[in-house]
This record gives sequence, structure tokens and C-alpha cells, in this order.
Amino acid sequence: MRPDLETVLAAADATIGRGEVREPRGGVRVGVDLGTAYTVVVAVDDDGLPVAGATRPAEVVRDGVVVDFVGARQLVAELREDVSARLGLPLESAAACFPPGVGAGEVQAVRYVVEGAGMACSALVDEPTAANAVLGITDGAVVDVGGGTTGTAILRDGQVLATLDEPTGGTHLTLVIAGACGISVDEAERRKTDPAEQERLLGVVRPVLDKIGTIVGGHINGHRVEAVHLVGGTSAFPGIAEIVGAACGVPARVPGNPLFVTPLGVALFDGAALPVTAKASP
Ligand SMILES: Nc1ncnc2c1ncn2[C@@H]1O[C@H](COP(=O)(O)OP(=O)(O)OP(=O)(O)O)[C@@H](O)[C@H]1O
Ligand SMILES: [Mg+2]
Repeated sequence: MRPDLETVLAAADATIGRGEVREPRGGVRVGVDLGTAYTVVVAVDDDGLPVAGATRPAEVVRDGVVVDFVGARQLVAELREDVSARLGLPLESAAACFPPGVGAGEVQAVRYVVEGAGMACSALVDEPTAANAVLGITDGAVVDVGGGTTGTAILRDGQVLATLDEPTGGTHLTLVIAGACGISVDEAERRKTDPAEQERLLGVVRPVLDKIGTIVGGHINGHRVEAVHLVGGTSAFPGIAEIVGAACGVPARVPGNPLFVTPLGVALFDGAALPVTAKASP
């Protein structure tokens, strides 16, 4: 039986977030998420439960585009080595993701990073579609609000009807905080993710969250969408669901811990009998 979402996300926190290792049930599938803010390598078992993972902040990708190929390859190789050593298993293949809307060349670059890190690239999938492999939404919109981009997948009867994205995300919240408070970007990032500071900062970041909501409203315009499901690290900012929901005109919700939903979903596409969206938008 498929484990429930709460169990999967708690296991993601334990493995990717805190470096714990779980005994895999059956085989192991691997996902690589080259993010603007964080790069993640995670292994899941036959139940789709994460068994080991590693993540590191890096600036090798910007708005879905690999801007430092050598750095990205090195980083993924190190994260792979880390996960492999902890599991005591070789990791020979992986699926990877890209934001919807990037060109075919950018998608190929992601493949070359995975291959350069010593794994066969078994599948390439767009981020919100990957996220939905975990959420299992059949009708509505899944929105990945990461560090650099806001990407949306529109679902109807379990099928992905459309994927779209735009370059606004958590980095923009950080920059606004830095400007408003007259502090460095590093300090702004620290305050933004500190639960003790977030309520006070909501007023500062509200215009950016409004903009994200307007972007989502544009993405779902013309589609029958009754609920928006927010994932990605920026969706962890308390209050985002209400603001995005009000701006896009459809109720928005956030699963318990939205940070690792997309990388987990990517791993489910590695060698699995799932439909793979291997093509980029034109
Ligand atoms: N608890 C939190 N509250 C608010 N923001 C958070 C929290 N945790 C992480 N973030 C922010 O989420 C962003 C990273 O999210 P994520 O890992 O989903 O992005 P990414 O995959 O690196 O970027 P992208 O998908 O845009 O390429 C960063 O901007 C980070 O500051
Ligand atoms: Mg991401």
C-alpha cells in the first residue's frame, strides 16, 4: 500500500534534511533536483519512501538554467557519493527535473550534469509534474515555488494538461527583505527562514507573495481549477497560502513540509512505470 503523504514527507525530512538512513524495501530509485537555491539527490524505495538523501545550497543553476556546468557536475557527483556511501549501494541511474518553460537545450544540460556525475539519466520531468507524482492530485493545479521560479502544472482527470513557469521565487523574497531591513542577503535569508522572524516579515514580503499569486492566477486562467497545491521551499513561508489564494482567486493549500516534495517526485520517475514528460516546452 502506498504510504500516506504525511509519512512520506516526514521521512523526507529525516533522510534529506537530517541525514538519516532507512532500510530500503525492494529496489532503489534516485532523483536529482538541480535547484536555484538547493541541489538535492534522494533515493526512494519501492514504496516511494525516501531512504537516504543529501542536499547542499549552491549557485550552479539560475531560473532553471545551468550556469555553472562544471560546478553542477561536481556537486551532483559529491551528493551521489554521499548518498551511495550511506546506503552502501552504487547509484547507477537517476531521473532529473527542469522548470517548465525552459528550452530543449537547457533540459539537455541537466541530462549532461547527471551523466557527468556518473549516472545514466533515466528520465527528465518538469518540476510540478514531478511534485504531483508525490501529491497524486487528479484535478487542480500543483505549483512549485522554489528559489528562482514559480512553476505550475494543471491537472485534469489525473492528466497534465499544461505546464508553465515564471522567474519569481524565494530569492526575490530574500532580496526584498535585505533592501527593506538594510541587511546583507545572507542575513536576510537567515531571517526569512527563521520561524521567530517570519510573522514580522510577512508585511515586507507580501508584495512578492502577491506577485506569485498573480503569476499563478495567470497560469490557471482559462482552466477549471478548484484548488491550488503549493510545494517548494518558499511555500513553507507561513501565510503564503492565504495570500496566493486571494491573488489567484482559488483556495491554495500547502502540505505539511513542502520543501522536498519535488525531489522525491523526481526519484519516482527513475526507471519507474510512470508517464515521463521528457520534452521541454517549445
Ligand atoms: N522555512 C522556510 N520558509 C521560507 N522560505 C524557505 C523555507 N525553507 C526554504 N525556503 C526557501 O525556499 C527556497 C528553496 O526552495 P527549493 O529548494 O524548493 O528551491 P530550488 O529548487 O532550489 O529552486 P528552483 O526550483 O526555483 O530552481 C529558498 O529561497 C529558501 O530560502
Ligand atoms: Mg526546485
